[in-house]
Amino acid sequence: MPYLHRLGVDVVWLSPVLRSPMQDNGYDISDYEDIDPIFGTLGDLDALVEALHERGMRLVMDLVVNHTSSEHSWFRDSRTPGSPCHDWYIWRDPKPGAHPDPAAPAGTPRGDEPNPWMSAFFGPAWTWDAERGEYYLHLFAPGQPDLNWDNPNVRLEIFAMMRRWLDRGIDGFRMDVINLISNDQARATTDPSRGELDMVFQFEHMALDQENGNRFCPIPLHLPAMKRTRARWNLGLSGHGWNALYLSNHDQARPVSRYGDPVSHRHASATAWAGMLHAHQGTPFVYQGEEIGMANYPWADISELRDVETLGYWHEHVEVEGENPAAVWPGIVAGSRDNARTPMQWDGTPGAGFTTGDAWLPVNPDHLDVNVAAQVGVPGSTFEFFRRMISLRHSLRVLVDGDFDLLEPDHPVLWWVRRLWHGRTFDAVANMSSDGLLWDLPEGDVVLANCAPPVHGHRPADRLSPWEMRWIVS
Ligand code: GLC
Repeated sequence: MPYLHRLGVDVVWLSPVLRSPMQDNGYDISDYEDIDPIFGTLGDLDALVEALHERGMRLVMDLVVNHTSSEHSWFRDSRTPGSPCHDWYIWRDPKPGAHPDPAAPAGTPRGDEPNPWMSAFFGPAWTWDAERGEYYLHLFAPGQPDLNWDNPNVRLEIFAMMRRWLDRGIDGFRMDVINLISNDQARATTDPSRGELDMVFQFEHMALDQENGNRFCPIPLHLPAMKRTRARWNLGLSGHGWNALYLSNHDQARPVSRYGDPVSHRHASATAWAGMLHAHQGTPFVYQGEEIGMANYPWADISELRDVETLGYWHEHVEVEGENPAAVWPGIVAGSRDNARTPMQWDGTPGAGFTTGDAWLPVNPDHLDVNVAAQVGVPGSTFEFFRRMISLRHSLRVLVDGDFDLLEPDHPVLWWVRRLWHGRTFDAVANMSSDGLLWDLPEGDVVLANCAPPVHGHRPADRLSPWEMRWIVS
């Protein structure tokens, strides 16, 4: 907590910590009222809330209510005729007249599913339940049955549960898979006058380097597409709704590996991306380790990975469809969600200061150089860049409320964002490439930079080094 406080964090978002069989890292909750023992106790959570509040920080918890775990008592009870939970999930009869194949291998259709929907984690979205004699719907893993939100009692039960957590002292929720797909809906739902949501995470910019939005099929990013997408969401929500700004979370590969150059320009590329993102309007999110430039893990074999989505994709493509493993593998390495889920790198010791035991995933070998202890208080480190950037976000009003403009939208490597507020101009300019770039920079005070400033006579002022980024105020 002192670390987050030092970084300047206002609100902490915890991924799910409630009781769960952990088929999907806690996004499969089996008891909404208790903390999973692998994380601690309710008493620990109370202590966390208190310690955050003492430091003026707040806590947001993940609210996973599209589905529960199949081990939740509601789901088990829903198998029993006459149970109050009988209709709490989406149960359907098999398709009439179809002939199921009871021996169909796991992850493949039996043939009499109610419809051909596929789950987000691969394989059919319907699983046959022999005990109830019906199929149940799961948009994600079979262990994540979808709740039936058309049932008013489900809603009342969830609302009461949310109320209990708020009464306990938590400050808000991040709502998992509450799907807001268009700008218009996002703008309306986050309009403060409606009292619904404070902000929205959209995924459009996350799909720009993927074929058909498939994280396991990476394609090169075309920077102008990224610039325009971010600009469109900025302009679309401005004055009404509110954006969440992110490049990284528990579901995404590490941005420095995905969009930057972790080998030759780790610090500069990590901070160029961060500085440009945080120059937009909205609430910026920093995912653990992003602030020290943590990168993807150098996976060598599928047996090292744990993520249910990754393993589902591998199973479907390699084991079911017989694709060449060597052809599927590079997409796994680049796209797996496990890239974001390796232990936090606190120091260069074995276990990275996170644990002396065995963690759920291996520690990235780069923790020898890339770790908190090597960066906190060290001028020019990635951590100190983030700290300065966050403090500017707190003090520069133009970043909160300023009008937005995207300049040079078609330039392939220059990213230039301008914000205007009450006669003040704020420019964020970056060279998003590993080559130098000649560009006439706007005049003004450089309030944030990720490379040493040009020394007169040493380097021309209009030359941007690889991944050089500046915030300029005038
Ligand atoms: C969201 C979560 C993800 C989870 C899924 C199912 O996409 O961010 O981690 O696997 O929902 O709950």
